[in-house]
Amino acid sequence: MNLDKIVCNCMSVTNGMIKDAVEAGATTLEEVQEATGAGTVCGACLDDVQRLVDHFVAESGK
Ligand code: FES
Repeated sequence: MNLDKIVCNCMSVTNGMIKDAVEAGATTLEEVQEATGAGTVCGACLDDVQRLVDHFVAESGK
């Protein structure tokens, strides 16, 4: 995965920032939204953000 790829254009949030948020303790879409702002403007990226959250949570074994 390209961690520098932007997943949320509105907030300029990258895949890596979602990963960092999960590593910092976020385990749900809501917590990642709070931590990064991803998906809080137009919502078009929400499905993608959710997929990333699921992926990184699974990867971190939480
Ligand atoms: S692209 Fe993420 S809120 Fe608009």
